[in-house]
Amino acid sequence: MAPASIILDCDPGIDDAVAILLALGSPEVQLAAITTVVGNTSLANATANALRVLEWVGRPDIPVAAGAERALVHGASRDAADAHGETGLDGSGLPAPTISPVGEHAVELIARLALAEPGRHTLVATGPLTNVALLAALRPQAFAALRRVVVMGGSALGGGNMSPYAEFNVWSDPEAAERVLQSGADTTLVGLDVTRRAILDGDDVAVLEQLPVLGPGLAGMLRFYMRKHIEWYGQEVVFQHDSLALAQVIDPTLLTVVHCHVEVDTGSGPARGATLVDRHGVFGGAPNVHWAEDLDVERFRSLLMARLTALAAAL
Ligand code: BDR
Ligand code: CA
Repeated sequence: MAPASIILDCDPGIDDAVAILLALGSPEVQLAAITTVVGNTSLANATANALRVLEWVGRPDIPVAAGAERALVHGASRDAADAHGETGLDGSGLPAPTISPVGEHAVELIARLALAEPGRHTLVATGPLTNVALLAALRPQAFAALRRVVVMGGSALGGGNMSPYAEFNVWSDPEAAERVLQSGADTTLVGLDVTRRAILDGDDVAVLEQLPVLGPGLAGMLRFYMRKHIEWYGQEVVFQHDSLALAQVIDPTLLTVVHCHVEVDTGSGPARGATLVDRHGVFGGAPNVHWAEDLDVERFRSLLMARLTALAAAL
């Protein structure tokens, strides 16, 4: 079977960087382009980080386009420097990029690729949904030409990571998230309920550290990110939120999804940015999202470790 073509819209971000590596190490997918958005770090840092990762693995041919510099309505009041560092990729030790983003805006790049091959590209979004909402608003035909959309975002039963209810990517631009969820696109939402179970532990990181080329940088950034997890959760683990969304395209059987109605709280109260996952159809809204509610934990971990190992061996 031909590999699935992916456009990755992201805010690297340590787990976003691992998702890029997972895509590049997986024969089931082909990374057509990377687009960047403000989120974990500034747009400039996120764009530089995508380029740093591509140079690291010898893939400067993959186009990177910068997108939105702030959220649609209210600029987010916080980035995630506490988790990902001031550069967004602290601990990696990667040099500044020598390659540059393409001249096109992220929205234009996605639109051009989508219209050139309707039904071919899956858009995987692992940052705030600002670029995706802008695409839906500005280039509706191109948005409709995407095969499907897979988003890392939201939370239902386990609570949020930015407020008691809100997950970071949705919290950062709730209006954009709501626009995407109500767009009618075939959308899969991979939220904290499953991504908090998509973990690597200290032993996994020690194994990765031995990999050729990738080892030191990968272990360095994962350990940086892990410090925050130890502080928050008291365990030597590091969540792979964004890789799990990517893995849903590589192997859809890793996640159990339920088709149900999901809305975003775009109000200004304490639940702003929360995803209301109507698992039992209480609101009566039409199902609009494939909500991920279970994960084969061990199969995901093995897949991620194997693909990072294969990528390193091929460098
Ligand atoms: C999401 O927030 C970001 O910090 C991560 O990169 C991930 O996309 C998890 O809530
Ligand atoms: Ca991210």
